[in-house]
Amino acid sequence: MLVLEKNAMTEEIELLVVKFGKSRSSLLPILQDIQRSHKHIPDFAQQEVARLLDIHPVEVYSVISFYSFLNSNAKGRNIVRLCQTITCDMAGKENVAKAIERELGIKFGETTKDNKFTLEYVNCLGMCDQGPALLINERVFPKVTPEKAVQILSEVK
Ligand code: FES
Repeated sequence: MLVLEKNAMTEEIELLVVKFGKSRSSLLPILQDIQRSHKHIPDFAQQEVARLLDIHPVEVYSVISFYSFLNSNAKGRNIVRLCQTITCDMAGKENVAKAIERELGIKFGETTKDNKFTLEYVNCLGMCDQGPALLINERVFPKVTPEKAVQILSEVK
């Protein structure tokens, strides 16, 4: 079973290497693709990406650690990220965070038991003039109020 899973992952990454090419600049798009389909980048995938691109695994890991939209641990189906940087903080991020935590019954950094949501803080999303900014999966929500946050969460499948 484990061998089959490994083979499937290796095949998937081989196809991505064909799609994006074997150069160093392919590393990020390949990791993004794996992240999109698996919601995280498992250790084995990291090793295979390194092997197939002929780079050191530490290089793969450091790219995953650098970008907040990439992660190596399994998370919920929906990743809810709230900007914690100063402008959003001053615009009312704390009240939005409390409303979200109350609604989902978990704290930031945690995943709901049904694996539907993971809550994370992130740094500036580039929407500083429209804070507090919330990112759910790949969609950004500007000017989020506590009420609006709860409404948005209820619409996420
Ligand atoms: S400070 Fe929150 S988006 Fe820039």
